Amino acid sequence: MDTKTEKQDIQETDIPVTELIRSAMRARNKAYAPYSNYMVGAAVLTNELRIYTGCNIENASYTPTICAERTAISKAVSEGWKRFKAIAVVGAPRGETITQYAFPCGVCRQVIREFADPESFFVIVAKSENDYEVFSLEELLPESFGPENLK
Ligand code: THU
Repeated sequence: MDTKTEKQDIQETDIPVTELIRSAMRARNKAYAPYSNYMVGAAVLTNELRIYTGCNIENASYTPTICAERTAISKAVSEGWKRFKAIAVVGAPRGETITQYAFPCGVCRQVIREFADPESFFVIVAKSENDYEVFSLEELLPESFGPENLK
């Protein structure tokens, strides 16, 4: 797709945007982030319309830290769901209201790429149920490398 993804594009699908954002917000409350105090929640939607949630889980040794998006995807894949339509992400420092859109980090974008079609997968970054932006994965990870390259 050449044109920028708009909210209307996701509103025309069967993707339950409000429920995804709500689920991500609930998951954010479970964040284990004693080092950064930056709490993130994510909710991923499988092709079968199941929602799996995740939070960031930090570690005293720092590098084993896992992002909320990868927690959610790991939960889904380990339960047998391997294709995804969308993910909602919310992030903010502990105790603060969400004033920024929290975009998936580069590693998470690549992990999403493994299980999603870049052109049709939606990334929803939200401050609230009513304040969100929508991007395709292709917009956030253009010209990507994926499973097809190894076939
Ligand atoms: N974090 C996420 O959970 N998702 C992202 O896409 C970016 C960063 C987490 C990792 C770490 O616990 C904290 O945010 C600060 O980097």
